[in-house]
Amino acid sequence: MNGVCSNGSGGMYLSQWKMTLSKICCIGAGYVGGPSCAVIAQKCPDLTVTVVDLSAHRIDQWNSDTLPIFEPRLDEVVKACRGKNLFFSTDIDKGIREAELIFICVNTPTKTFGWGKGRAADLKYIESAARRIAEVAQNSKIVVEKSTVPVKAAESISNILSANVKPGVKYQVLSNPEFLAEGTAITDLLNPDRVLIGGEPTGEGSEAVKALSWIYEHWVPKENIITMNTWSSELSKLAANAFLAQRISSINAMSAICEATGADVDEVAHAVGTDSRIGPKFLKASVGFGGSCFKKDVLNMVYLCECLNLPEVAAYWQQVIDINEYQRRRFTMRIVQSLFNTITNKRITVLGFAFKKNTADTRESAAIHVCKYLLDEGAHVQIYDPKVPRDQIMSDLTMAEITDQPERVPELVTICPNAYEAAEKSHALVICTEWDEFQTLDYQRIYDKMLKPAFIFDGRLLLDHQQLMDIGFKVETIGKRLNRDQAKLVRTHANSTS
Ligand code: UDX
Ligand code: ADP
Repeated sequence: MNGVCSNGSGGMYLSQWKMTLSKICCIGAGYVGGPSCAVIAQKCPDLTVTVVDLSAHRIDQWNSDTLPIFEPRLDEVVKACRGKNLFFSTDIDKGIREAELIFICVNTPTKTFGWGKGRAADLKYIESAARRIAEVAQNSKIVVEKSTVPVKAAESISNILSANVKPGVKYQVLSNPEFLAEGTAITDLLNPDRVLIGGEPTGEGSEAVKALSWIYEHWVPKENIITMNTWSSELSKLAANAFLAQRISSINAMSAICEATGADVDEVAHAVGTDSRIGPKFLKASVGFGGSCFKKDVLNMVYLCECLNLPEVAAYWQQVIDINEYQRRRFTMRIVQSLFNTITNKRITVLGFAFKKNTADTRESAAIHVCKYLLDEGAHVQIYDPKVPRDQIMSDLTMAEITDQPERVPELVTICPNAYEAAEKSHALVICTEWDEFQTLDYQRIYDKMLKPAFIFDGRLLLDHQQLMDIGFKVETIGKRLNRDQAKLVRTHANSTS
């Protein structure tokens, strides 16, 4: 343990609060709450961690052998602590009552109606969690917002709590945004670049910050725990996601130039990324970023700027989203154009439906939009993803914002158990997610099953294009112009320089 000041009997004594921190509760057993609390429980055996949720189904899954989310190494962490100092429960009131510190990890989707529709975050789940805390708490609590929230959400939580406070009960609200990425959540939680804690610069505020910091100090070096004011902490989370999304939109914008000029986006990314001021990460061109955070957080930023009367700044960040949508449209248009300008009644194989590899999460996945465009053109789409269940794919493709003819989706979409069946009698194969297993498929076998000419559209720059062209595929990829003649030239050049 690094610099942990335990009181010996488990927990940490907080003199200003006159309480010992030994039990924590997390409201929300989702992608953030579940993994974060599992790691806290594993690293802090002196704490009891209870994760509560409204959904009995979700809690049952957390208590079963099949966890509700797929995340590498999550199973082993949960199994090591569950029933010892990690509990999953639907008894929200008990969880709140018993804990000295409560994380709020509920969903904050983008509003679909009313003011700020399509941009502002819907804070109804946060508000209802805060109201619940105020209703049932019988002693003082440190309340920590972990969900990604708009700037000033902590203030709203604080206002709700103080307007409903009971005699003798005190609250401190902290901001502690989570930076884990899906697919690498456990590694990210175990080795965070930094932990951010925002709090009030008062005696009790500082002690609350110290208490939360003490939890992380069980495994995170103290110098990686950054404390600041609450608003800076909230804005830093939005800023970090906006910067990351912006890098992807920047390289995707470059990919359009590469396709038009014959430059190679991977080579450009390598050249740019070797500048130590820029760095190599998050420069992989793709069919567009997805996930529950990037779009939501950038839109949040846009809305914030509009509310602050900063229209130029709002327009700047809006472009990050616009380029992402453009990239998905552009990629699908290339599929249609290559297939002789019509895909009506053609079979198209989509490999990968998750928004990135190593997760079954499909929120904002580029694949949803690519499939939407293909279905709008009347194509038959045969989808295979190693982890996403059939029902999830069908529910994503029948969402109101994706189709106004949901009854046609089951007619046009087939979910397949593997890539080979998905390729059966298909005109084209479209890679939407960068799953490792797509790199080691038997592409000769796939080619033999497909109609000719057989096309591959690599939306992730994942495959060995030379090998595919040698088999006979016509290969189109993001950020490069490849055809058989060009490929020969590439090969000749490669041979003469090897
Ligand atoms: C992101 C942030 O990384 C994380 O810090 C924050 O807490 C939540 O949002 P996540 O959305 O889970 O995490 O995954 P991330 O790895 O950031 O990928 C987001 C999307 O960008 C994926 O669709 C991914 O495929 C895409 N991506 C990422 C690219 O297209 N190119 C890249 O170079 C990197
Ligand atoms: P995230 O990716 O931010 O973790 P998820 O949607 O995966 O978001 O998880 C959020 C969880 O929060 C859901 O399981 C939802 O049922 C739960 N939740 C939302 N509001 C409340 C609430 N007021 N009390 C308890 N759980 C809640």
